[in-house]
Amino acid sequence: MAKIKAAVVGATGIAGQQVLAALDNHPWFEIAALAASERSAGKSFADALTDSQSGIRRWYVQGCEPPAGALRLEVQEARSLRLDGIGVVFAAVESEAARELEPIYARRVPTISTARPHRMEPDVPLVIPGVNVDHLGIVAHQRRRRGWEGYIAALPNCTATGLAVTLKALEDRFGVESALVTTMQGISGAGRDLAALDIVENIIPFIPREEERVVIETRKILGRPGTDAIDEHRVRVSATCTRASVLNGHTESVAVALGTKADVEEVIAAFEAFGHDFTALGLPNSPRRMITVHRDPMRPQPRLDRDAELGMTTSVGRVRLDEVLPNGVKYLLVSHNAAMGAGRGAVLLAEYMKHAGYL
Ligand SMILES: NC(=O)c1ccc[n+]([C@@H]2O[C@H](COP(=O)([O-])OP(=O)(O)OC[C@H]3O[C@@H](n4cnc5c(N)ncnc54)[C@H](OP(=O)(O)O)[C@@H]3O)[C@@H](O)[C@H]2O)c1
Repeated sequence: MAKIKAAVVGATGIAGQQVLAALDNHPWFEIAALAASERSAGKSFADALTDSQSGIRRWYVQGCEPPAGALRLEVQEARSLRLDGIGVVFAAVESEAARELEPIYARRVPTISTARPHRMEPDVPLVIPGVNVDHLGIVAHQRRRRGWEGYIAALPNCTATGLAVTLKALEDRFGVESALVTTMQGISGAGRDLAALDIVENIIPFIPREEERVVIETRKILGRPGTDAIDEHRVRVSATCTRASVLNGHTESVAVALGTKADVEEVIAAFEAFGHDFTALGLPNSPRRMITVHRDPMRPQPRLDRDAELGMTTSVGRVRLDEVLPNGVKYLLVSHNAAMGAGRGAVLLAEYMKHAGYL
């Protein structure tokens, strides 16, 4: 069967490179077109990745090289990306560009976005594969309402991802009333441009707009799909987001008030049982377990755990009861911001969409 031709927009960036790594030698998709800003347009992908002064190649995916075929492709200017024959667009560009570009693509082609601007629009599904793929149904309404051949399906903010994966496991078993989360986020979550001198030997106490996004996006992800919008969950979330001197991987300390009382072993069992229906599909970039629970109190750690299952599993540890919140439990998690939280997660979502007939 012919492979679906994929275009990757923002291919030179951190999230876009994760898309490319996940698409390398893919059984169902082929990398057919690349796009980025005017800075990269007209160059081969190999040249666009390489600093012209120093000759240094800026490839950020650990453990693999850029796909050989992609290196030879010409990078197109994102606004004039040629869509003929393209079956899916992966859009991984910064926010302002995404606001303008994604509707241009989605008028013709299903577009999977890692960016913020369209996430909270009522007819745009905000999806984590393995958590709420049942929200994808609203793209039919989006297409009708907007008169588009394609549609936008968005992935959440990478900080909401690990939180929502674990909250959904708890919600399904016990119900979830409220959650307090404090994050220690990896540098790569900020894209390529964070100044090294700011972050080395430091913790930055504020990430603009991050806490608000975690709160509102979590409610949408945990919500129920209606015919033309998602009915948001009423969970109350309080977030404190910090940036830590860690390259990849967001660590989050979470305390949750459950709907019904549970002991530690019941919580661990809920985490370990979560998502089996989804992982049993055996999609090419799927983790074997949505959540990996550690009983060693020194885990999870970003350096040891972020790359588990190609960065697609959420690693959880230090599960214990919380004496302050009603029916309280608390735990730490590590989630790979650029893999499950962005590029590879976008490819896993596309795999599910193909499996379920959305592509
Ligand atoms: N990094 C993460 O862990 C992560 C996680 C979840 C979501 N996201 C989201 O994913 C998106 C990309 O983030 P990133 O971290 O990959 O950023 P990044 O490393 O800074 O890369 C940005 C990409 O966007 C391109 N770009 C910038 N301005 C553009 C324009 N006006 N038109 C077309 N392309 C443009 C850049 O192309 P040039 O190389 O030509 O400049 C580059 O390919 C953002 O919306 C971000 O919020 C990122």
